[in-house]
Amino acid sequence: MKIIHTVRELKEQLTNVRYKCLVPTMGNLHEGHLRLIDEAHAKSQLHKGQVIATIFVNRLQFGPNEDFDRYPRTLDNDCALLDQHGCDVVFAPDESELYPEAQTYTVSPPPDLANTLEGHFRPGFFTGVCTVVMKLFSLIQPQSAIFGKKDYQQLMIIEKMVKQFNLPIDIIGLDTLRAKDGLALSSRNGYLSTKERMKAVELYQSIQRLAQLIKIPGSNGAELCQKSIETLNREGWMVDYISLCNQSDLSPCTQDKGGNWVVLAAAKIGKTRLIDNIEINF
Ligand code: PAF
Repeated sequence: MKIIHTVRELKEQLTNVRYKCLVPTMGNLHEGHLRLIDEAHAKSQLHKGQVIATIFVNRLQFGPNEDFDRYPRTLDNDCALLDQHGCDVVFAPDESELYPEAQTYTVSPPPDLANTLEGHFRPGFFTGVCTVVMKLFSLIQPQSAIFGKKDYQQLMIIEKMVKQFNLPIDIIGLDTLRAKDGLALSSRNGYLSTKERMKAVELYQSIQRLAQLIKIPGSNGAELCQKSIETLNREGWMVDYISLCNQSDLSPCTQDKGGNWVVLAAAKIGKTRLIDNIEINF
């Protein structure tokens, strides 16, 4: 496995690679990321190509009071794991390499998608994500790219960006990997104290319950969301949102039945903000 830090070396390394499957990450890899790498490996084997993973903590997608500075940087360990899982190339640039000058051209996803849910609580987040992902796509020119469904809104925004810009990239979304108790795997779980970690699964349990109750005839989505928020807040959480949305465009669900829905949630436990979601198919 090659570990590359500069754009020049990256270009050299990728010349003549006929099929590239990209897995963009911010590092501090866990089993969830490795699942994406495994899938990338299977795909690239099929096409006699290579798996390219990127590790870059992208300042552009962090708000001023967010965890950019304390986001865990564990490059050596990440590279060892990537190597074990059949990754061919790791691109881990530093900031001055990826942003040699202030990034004044950015990719702004449409407000109806980007300013709701995560975007409402993290202004500018999706512009930061789309800008760096577009840059990585442009540098690597992959044939496919893999993202986790835990970041449901991110995946949707990237899929729509790729479609609208006619990028010839197959975007693949993979199911969330969970710990034994159901907590969605996330690098941010590492911030949790032992006590918080024990409580952390309550977020998943809450949306799981909601996903069951919403299927009962006569149930009211808005009321169920509100009840879930109140219950979690009573349990010591600080809920940003629990929302029932249409899977196609994340618009709020208004009708009571039919279609494919997703319940999305974000909440803080102590200082740690967790997100999760469950698709509901009728
Ligand atoms: O999901 C992430 O880890 C990041 O948002 C991504 C896609 C690597 C862009 O920085």
